[in-house]
Amino acid sequence: MQKSILITGGAGFIGSHVVKLFVSKYPKYKVVNLDSLTYAGNLENLKEVEKADNYVFEKVDLLEESGLKAVFEKHEITDVIHLAAESHVDRSISDPLAFVKTNVIGTVNLLNVARGYWKDYDAHLFYHVSTDEVYGSLDNGGYFEETTAYDPQSPYSASKASSDHFVRAYANTYGLRTVISNCSNNYGPNQFPEKLIPLCVHNIKNNKPLPIYGKGENVRDWLYVIDHAHAIDKIFHEGKAGETYNIGGWNEWQNINIVKLLCEIMDRKLGREKGTSSKLITFVKDRAGHDMRYAIDASKLEKELGWKPSLQFEEGIEKTVDWYLENEAWLEHVTSGDYQKYYIEHYQA
Ligand code: NAD
Ligand code: TYD
Repeated sequence: MQKSILITGGAGFIGSHVVKLFVSKYPKYKVVNLDSLTYAGNLENLKEVEKADNYVFEKVDLLEESGLKAVFEKHEITDVIHLAAESHVDRSISDPLAFVKTNVIGTVNLLNVARGYWKDYDAHLFYHVSTDEVYGSLDNGGYFEETTAYDPQSPYSASKASSDHFVRAYANTYGLRTVISNCSNNYGPNQFPEKLIPLCVHNIKNNKPLPIYGKGENVRDWLYVIDHAHAIDKIFHEGKAGETYNIGGWNEWQNINIVKLLCEIMDRKLGREKGTSSKLITFVKDRAGHDMRYAIDASKLEKELGWKPSLQFEEGIEKTVDWYLENEAWLEHVTSGDYQKYYIEHYQA
């Protein structure tokens, strides 16, 4: 095998698409998926690759240093693509410490193990996957650039910002070869239905209210998850060590408009009369400290590495809705058990 890549969080939403891309595109790489399988991790996301010769799954928590060491030794890890994290802003508001544990301490544990295991740092890469939320909120126009000062506003973004700083500190202090990318909101198949788009698809199907925080005027820049996976592939292979790359879709939408679009699409696909699903729209109490707008300037990645999003949003959202409608068993599985508890606590408290 040319490389033995540790992909953390590979059973989650974005991680599973990255794992599937690397396993199929690089048969000479060994892909080691390390994931502790929290509520957001689901091995069903990896059915297409689970029997591949170059794929291995290791159920290990980022907080277990000895487990991480054992994985590095057993698989002779050459590179890391680190995605494992607690990823949902609302959960970070109710339980910030869980985010400090996984996102900050877990990342530092992983950095320590990589630093201790690798001998010649120039021969290895530690790629840290992060979010545009570290830059804060764009209330007054403009775009996040790689040089924008960090200004995280939620416990989630504060924990991700902290992990980014640790990655840069390990490059500066110990000479580890690192790269960081900060991406905008992803959408697509396999996203846990606590996030806006899959939550609304699920609720429209089940005739449940569509909770819109505040006035629904907050803006997010949406990128199809497989485009993100391709950007990670590009940056992993062609990015310059020590650099940061912003990844985005040039695709800004107010939340309310996304939800209205989903209602129209679902009415058509479910054979409902036009306007039926939009009656489910329900304005609810705003999220605490709700960031107003995120928008990424992705021109560095376009100019330097030639990456561009491949899918128009209108096409991506149709594909996404089709996937959820065709994968009812997946939705039922992930929304059973704890999901009900979360939903009731969050929306009916
Ligand atoms: P996700 O919540 O769907 O998946 C996270 C995965 O990490 C799960 O499989 C979970 O089991 C695993 N995990 C959590 N804690 C762990 C621990 N302590 N040890 C080992 N595994 C653990 O998240 P996602 O949306 O796929 O996001 C992946 C990464 O991309 C995160 O680092 C996130 O910050 C970043 N990101 C996400 C988005 C987005 O829109 N979802 C945008 C930009 C960046
Ligand atoms: P989300 O998918 O949680 O991603 P993030 O908070 O990381 O951007 O939320 C996207 C936007 O949708 C955000 O502005 C919050 C809003 N939102 C709602 O209005 N209702 C909901 O039920 C959820 C989950 C999010």
